[in-house]
Amino acid sequence: MRKKVFLTRALHDFALKELKKKYQVEVNSGKIPVPQTKLRSKIKDVDGLICFPYDNINKETMDLAENLKVISTYSVGFDHIDTKYAKEKKIRVGYTPEVLTDATADLAFSLLLDALRRVSEGDKIIRNGKWKVIYGAYDYVGLDLRGKTLGILGLGRIGKALAKRAKAFDMKIIYHNRNRISKSKEKSLGVKYVSFERLISQSDVVSVHVPHTKETDKMFNIKTFRKMKKTSFLINTSRGKVVNEKDLVTALKKKIIAGAGLDVFEKEPISKNHPLVKLQNVVLAPHIGSSTKETRAKMAEITVKNLNLGINGKKPIYSVGY
Ligand code: DGY
Repeated sequence: MRKKVFLTRALHDFALKELKKKYQVEVNSGKIPVPQTKLRSKIKDVDGLICFPYDNINKETMDLAENLKVISTYSVGFDHIDTKYAKEKKIRVGYTPEVLTDATADLAFSLLLDALRRVSEGDKIIRNGKWKVIYGAYDYVGLDLRGKTLGILGLGRIGKALAKRAKAFDMKIIYHNRNRISKSKEKSLGVKYVSFERLISQSDVVSVHVPHTKETDKMFNIKTFRKMKKTSFLINTSRGKVVNEKDLVTALKKKIIAGAGLDVFEKEPISKNHPLVKLQNVVLAPHIGSSTKETRAKMAEITVKNLNLGINGKKPIYSVGY
């Protein structure tokens, strides 16, 4: 009997073809995210599960799985999976870091550039027929990047890749991380370690690159925003829940901080009625950090490889926990 694999959503054709050569494959063709009731009925007898960052793979769901050997997520983030419980149940968890580092750093930097140079704001002005005067002293002026301080919270792969980009634009770079990197690496990257308090109070732009955990939950809240410069910007391409969105709206409305660039939100997707959509000083992207043709294909390739290994009791190439 062929092993069974359930995908909560389709992957690229090449990946599905590859999977179908080996397994009995079922792809969710209904609602996205797959409703818990459906996920629970499917997980019962599958050997492998391929999921996405918005699927909630919790303890109760895993408890229903009778044969599950591996959960392979099409993402670098795995906060949607109870990985501790998966380990207890001896279910391998595979994820897709590295291949999306550059794409995500590019997106963070695009949001930074856009927020400081007001590109999307200008685009909206033109599309709404509001471009009436040209080239005045104060019209649509943005800010130089050169000489500004970028504060990177979380100097992992993506944070480091962002530092390289910022260095090329002559920004000063400070960072805060759970563990300080070696002095020689700091030197080669051109970054300076500071405390979290210093990071938020000294930066002109703060870019967030930490996973969502109990410790990072809503760590950007009104208290944090009040400690940031009034002229500063927040860029978030990590997870929406790291930021208290209600407080961010207040901070942007009351000009407690100058602006933001966001790729992630507390609850996705956000609708056109979301309070952030009404604000001019924020650039919004629909969770596209890793969304390039090349990167998404590489992610699919790794998702399949991780599944192939885990389903046979082996450690995925990129494995959480064990
Ligand atoms: C991930 O893979 O977790 C990212 O959020 C994708 O942009």
